[in-house]
Amino acid sequence: MEALSIFTSILYLGLIISQVNADPVEDKQALLDFVNGFRHSRSLNWNESSPVCNQWTGVKCSQDGSRIVALRLPGVGFTGQIPPNTISRLSALKILSLRSNVITGYFPSDFFNLKSLSFLYLQFNNFSGPLPDFSVWKNLTIVNLSNNWFNGTIPRSLSNLTQLQALNLSNNSLSGEIPDLTLPSLQQLNLSNNHLSGSIPKSLVRFPSSVFAGNNISSGEILAPRVSPDLPPGESNVRPKSSGRRIGETALLGIIIAACVLGVAAFAFLIIACCVRNKKEDGFEGTLQKREMSPEKLVSRNQDASNRLFFFEGCSYAFDLEDLLRASAEVLGKGTFGMAYKAVLEDATTVVVKRLKDVSAGKRDFEQQMEIVGSIKHENVVELKAYYYSKDEKLMVYDYYSQGSVSSMLHGKRGEGRIPLDWDTRMRIAIGTARGIARIHAENSGKLVHGNIKSSNIFLNTRQYGCVSDLGLTTITSPLAPVIARAAGYRAPEVTDTRKATQSSDVYSFGVVLLELLTAKSPIHTTGGDELVHLVRWVHSVVREEWTAEVFDIELLRYPNIEEEMVELLQIAMSCVVRMPDQRPKMLDVIKMIENVRRVEPENHPSSENKSESSTPTPPPPVAE
Ligand SMILES: *[C@@H]1O[C@H](CO)[C@@H](O)[C@H](O)[C@H]1NC(C)=O
Ligand SMILES: *[C@@H]1O[C@H](CO)[C@@H](O)[C@H](O)[C@H]1NC(C)=O
Ligand SMILES: *[C@@H]1O[C@H](CO)[C@@H](O)[C@H](O)[C@H]1NC(C)=O
Ligand SMILES: *[C@@H]1O[C@H](CO)[C@@H](O)[C@H](O)[C@H]1NC(C)=O
Ligand SMILES: *[C@@H]1O[C@H](CO)[C@@H](O)[C@H](O)[C@H]1NC(C)=O
Ligand SMILES: *[C@@H]1O[C@H](CO)[C@@H](O)[C@H](O)[C@H]1NC(C)=O
Ligand SMILES: *[C@@H]1O[C@H](CO)[C@@H](O)[C@H](O)[C@H]1NC(C)=O
Ligand SMILES: *[C@@H]1O[C@H](CO)[C@@H](O)[C@H](O)[C@H]1NC(C)=O
Ligand SMILES: *[C@@H]1O[C@H](CO)[C@@H](O)[C@H](O)[C@H]1NC(C)=O
Ligand SMILES: *[C@@H]1O[C@H](CO)[C@@H](O)[C@H](O)[C@H]1NC(C)=O
Repeated sequence: MEALSIFTSILYLGLIISQVNADPVEDKQALLDFVNGFRHSRSLNWNESSPVCNQWTGVKCSQDGSRIVALRLPGVGFTGQIPPNTISRLSALKILSLRSNVITGYFPSDFFNLKSLSFLYLQFNNFSGPLPDFSVWKNLTIVNLSNNWFNGTIPRSLSNLTQLQALNLSNNSLSGEIPDLTLPSLQQLNLSNNHLSGSIPKSLVRFPSSVFAGNNISSGEILAPRVSPDLPPGESNVRPKSSGRRIGETALLGIIIAACVLGVAAFAFLIIACCVRNKKEDGFEGTLQKREMSPEKLVSRNQDASNRLFFFEGCSYAFDLEDLLRASAEVLGKGTFGMAYKAVLEDATTVVVKRLKDVSAGKRDFEQQMEIVGSIKHENVVELKAYYYSKDEKLMVYDYYSQGSVSSMLHGKRGEGRIPLDWDTRMRIAIGTARGIARIHAENSGKLVHGNIKSSNIFLNTRQYGCVSDLGLTTITSPLAPVIARAAGYRAPEVTDTRKATQSSDVYSFGVVLLELLTAKSPIHTTGGDELVHLVRWVHSVVREEWTAEVFDIELLRYPNIEEEMVELLQIAMSCVVRMPDQRPKMLDVIKMIENVRRVEPENHPSSENKSESSTPTPPPPVAE
């Protein structure tokens, strides 16, 4: 998988060019010493000759690029003991995450040098031995050491960590009594599944007993005053009424968000780890950029306010450009207007990101066109969720359709194990796509042109009807270079340059899609003898010689009593691909014709289907994966 490393690094190049590019040489060397001395099963893209700040997986520098402040390497497969005097040289480090590796040995004693450490995530490793003296890290805020083999007692040095908001020591082998810890900022605690004994100290009775579960702790009479009467028990640990100091609202909010995000990130990480387990381990780092996100805010780089993702109203997504850049991604394909990627965000949201190339429109024209495209809410049009415009980078964000495009359904995986695309589905693709295009043609006072209709831009919506994507880009991109092989077979004869696409050339392209559905042949394909065949010409020649039955996809021949419908649809397709643009039907006529092929069709539909067909904006029916 040539996953996202390309995506991220290219984007980073494009977007961060304004950042100072000084490489922290000593910190870099420390990292190299660390990674070279430490066995790991997944390769990292830590190339000595590339800048550490912008390109190395899991590394984040201070704003001026002089020091490394965050290191996140979860699930890289580190095995053994952390080589001494490596990470500890990153003395400006604030965030360290090495969770979910197989690190053994004692807590590294040289971590005492990391005086600025605020967030420490070492959970799910195989650390053992005693816990360290915590008093050296005055700024510690979140500590997760759960799911290791730490033993010995809970150190008193935790007291006095005035910043500590969350402490997770669960699922270790800690023993002895819990010391009376004064931790004024502590919001979250988990000491469960250890071998602790004795009773709950006064300072910690505000936490619910579940955080001490799995120990030998007598709770007895202490339990009673713990729960404040006006709070449901579950909430008593979130905001202790009894605690003298009031926690700032922002801090509280931050913690809540942090808790949510971390949980979700961990979940996403697990899912991804599971999914990818069977794949090749090399080149894996691109998909493994899952990290704790909340501390991110501390060090997030100055983002130009105008360079942000623009979301359309009603969009339920919640992520920003940073998240998108961090997402793992996979190349879906190279389209007429640029590369398309499937990006999986930290909360497991999956979107399609299109990087447009050759955009000739200025910012305002671009935004205007996006507004038009983004305003279309129709169940047969793939919704544009968000876009991004900067000088170097133009992105469009769409929903991801897990079934893939109609092109891949028709042409992919022929042969053994293939599930053929049945006739009913093909009819639904045809009618849905027609309705989507008609809706597009109604936009912008009836002037909007799709401009790039082809089967790889058509997907199945939740009701398994066709749904078109990639519209409205012709006016903002530069005229195409001579021939784009893929789009060529769909292009109407009068169109020599995609900027000249019209609604009637859309009808032509749609006709080609219909032919594709009927024949399962690509619009331009080769026969045995290397000869290029244009689908339209081929169908013409076959039909002229009255071998009509020969044109149809053999996979369709298994369905009984559909011949008549196939012939009717073929005639509609032929009327769409006539040479003269003004002789082609309008899209609304095409819809009527297709609906007539199947008289049962309208009855199958809930009434919303017909309503949403009108060009007036109606509330969008649910569109999703
Ligand atoms: C490191 O980067 C340089 C140029 O940036 C490239 O020539 C070299 O092949 C890369 N090495 C590895 C191991 O990727
Ligand atoms: C701890 O945090 C404060 C405030 O962010 C900062 O001024 C101080 O330098 C930090 N201490 C260390 C040792 O980094
Ligand atoms: C982790 O440590 C425990 C006990 O120290 C040991 O039993 C276990 O095999 C170790 N696991 C790995 C993966 O090293
Ligand atoms: C902690 O575990 C180590 C081995 O990992 C052992 O040598 C040591 O005695 C244990 N300490 C306690 C207090 O149990
Ligand atoms: C906590 O701080 C107080 C004074 O600020 C000090 O006397 C005490 O030794 C500290 N306790 C620990 C465990 O560091
Ligand atoms: C680690 O512990 C912190 C603090 O208790 C908690 O917020 C976080 O959810 C934990 N992370 C995981 C993956 O359990
Ligand atoms: C504490 O951690 C354990 C896992 O070690 C988990 O099952 C439990 O739900 C956690 N409790 C709280 C209150 O977070
Ligand atoms: C606790 O640790 C054990 C062994 O390391 C593991 O099997 C178990 O799933 C962990 N429990 C939780 C709740 O994480
Ligand atoms: C502590 O960590 C465990 C496992 O890492 C997690 O299940 C639990 O939610 C965490 N507890 C808190 C309070 O963050
Ligand atoms: C639990 O603690 C009590 C004293 O607090 C002790 O008498 C008892 O033996 C302990 N039980 C176990 C299983 O350790």
